[in-house]
Amino acid sequence: MFILCMVIVGASAFIIQPEEQTVAVRNCQFRGKHFKKYFRVEEEPVVLRCPHEESWLWTSPHTNIMWHKNDSGRIIPGEDTRMWVQDRALWILPALQRDSGTYVCTIRNASYCDEMSIELRVFENIKASLPFISYLQILTLSTSGLLVCPELSKFTRNKTDLNIQWYKDSTPLDQDNEKFLSLRGTTRLFIHNVSVEDAGYYSCGMTFSHNGTQYNVTRNINVRVNKKEEEPIPVIVSHHQTILASLGSKLTIPCKVFLGVGKKSTSIVWWTANDTNIDSAYPSGRVTEGPDKEYSENNENYIEVPLVFDPVAREDLNTDFKCSVTNKKIFRTLRTRVKEASTFSWEIALAPLSLVFLVFGGICMHRWCKHRTEKAYGLTMIKTDHEDF
Ligand SMILES: *[C@@H]1O[C@H](CO)[C@@H](O)[C@H](O)[C@H]1NC(C)=O
Ligand SMILES: *[C@@H]1O[C@H](CO)[C@@H](O)[C@H](O)[C@H]1NC(C)=O
Ligand SMILES: *[C@@H]1O[C@H](CO)[C@@H](O)[C@H](O)[C@H]1NC(C)=O
Ligand SMILES: *[C@@H]1O[C@H](CO)[C@@H](O)[C@H](O)[C@H]1NC(C)=O
Ligand SMILES: *[C@@H]1O[C@H](CO)[C@@H](O)[C@H](O)[C@H]1NC(C)=O
Repeated sequence: MFILCMVIVGASAFIIQPEEQTVAVRNCQFRGKHFKKYFRVEEEPVVLRCPHEESWLWTSPHTNIMWHKNDSGRIIPGEDTRMWVQDRALWILPALQRDSGTYVCTIRNASYCDEMSIELRVFENIKASLPFISYLQILTLSTSGLLVCPELSKFTRNKTDLNIQWYKDSTPLDQDNEKFLSLRGTTRLFIHNVSVEDAGYYSCGMTFSHNGTQYNVTRNINVRVNKKEEEPIPVIVSHHQTILASLGSKLTIPCKVFLGVGKKSTSIVWWTANDTNIDSAYPSGRVTEGPDKEYSENNENYIEVPLVFDPVAREDLNTDFKCSVTNKKIFRTLRTRVKEASTFSWEIALAPLSLVFLVFGGICMHRWCKHRTEKAYGLTMIKTDHEDF
């Protein structure tokens, strides 16, 4: 009975095992199409890398990578000697326009399998192809910048005398010219003091030999030149040079600063008294810097920082108050003085008195004018009126 059991178990194990393996092979998990697209020109070598090979090599180095073209189902390597797999990457040399399509790489080990696809498009080597095949690189006006000849690592490996040729609109850029400098042994081009004219199509490349045949490997770059982000210059829009106030009363002096349009500013606004911070000049807190108020009007940004006196004291009349604003570029300041509102209060005090004079004068005038002609009366009236005010 025991032996019979063993035989059955053993047999079932033998039957199930190959079945599991075929299931594993067939159920290869498709992980999707990779976001990256390879756009290349014909007659040049193309190397496609399996997009997810890194994650596999990490967990299980003993893997097997296979490539096939999705539309034709062609397994690589096949009859076409232009395509082969080397170091897990798919080589096509030279690439032709008809090689365009979706390529699927399948990675498997003894127990697991998955695949991912990538797209290759091979363009005719003409100017009209440039917008499609170019890599976008951005430089900043009036600074120095670097361009990088991209995706050459498969061809530059084991190369000690790397020599990248650079062209702008098909004109070779001299190796050591003041403006452009091809950094020897690297894939980089240094551009000094970028100007608007430096925008446009560049190409860079190298030669690559295989089985005694030389091939060009070129990359195209669409260079865009951006203006430096200019920080707007803040402007103090308050223009109170002298503030009238009564001693013992409350007073608020606003400092309003225009920060520019649109973009957020890095400006700082603050008050000083006799060139010291308000906090240290008035430890008692009689004079304080009020809370900042930041706001926008029609996309124009403002900040208001009030200086609050509670109350105004005699020493304020001799103190030098300044509102200052600064950002990375500029420093502006506006000076303000507090004056005692004496003239103003005298006027108020004299107002009833002048009214009495006006009424009294009016009565006199009326009496005196009775003896004058109508014409002369009008003229005198105007003159007196003027003097009174
Ligand atoms: C196969 O790969 C999977 C996923 O990376 C891993 O979990 C498993 O351990 C690997 N098996 C072997 C036998 O290497
Ligand atoms: C591969 O081709 C098949 C049939 O032509 C299609 O249904 C499938 O979406 C393609 N896969 C990819 C990743 O393009
Ligand atoms: C950069 O070029 C501009 C003109 O394009 C010139 O006015 C400026 O002086 C140059 N700056 C330097 C640092 O060479
Ligand atoms: C490689 O590029 C150079 C310069 O553009 C050209 O003269 C040469 O004919 C090209 N070689 C091939 C094989 O296309
Ligand atoms: C500022 O200086 C003036 C004269 O130098 C002085 O009278 C005044 O008290 C000072 N104010 C403060 C807040 O220190």
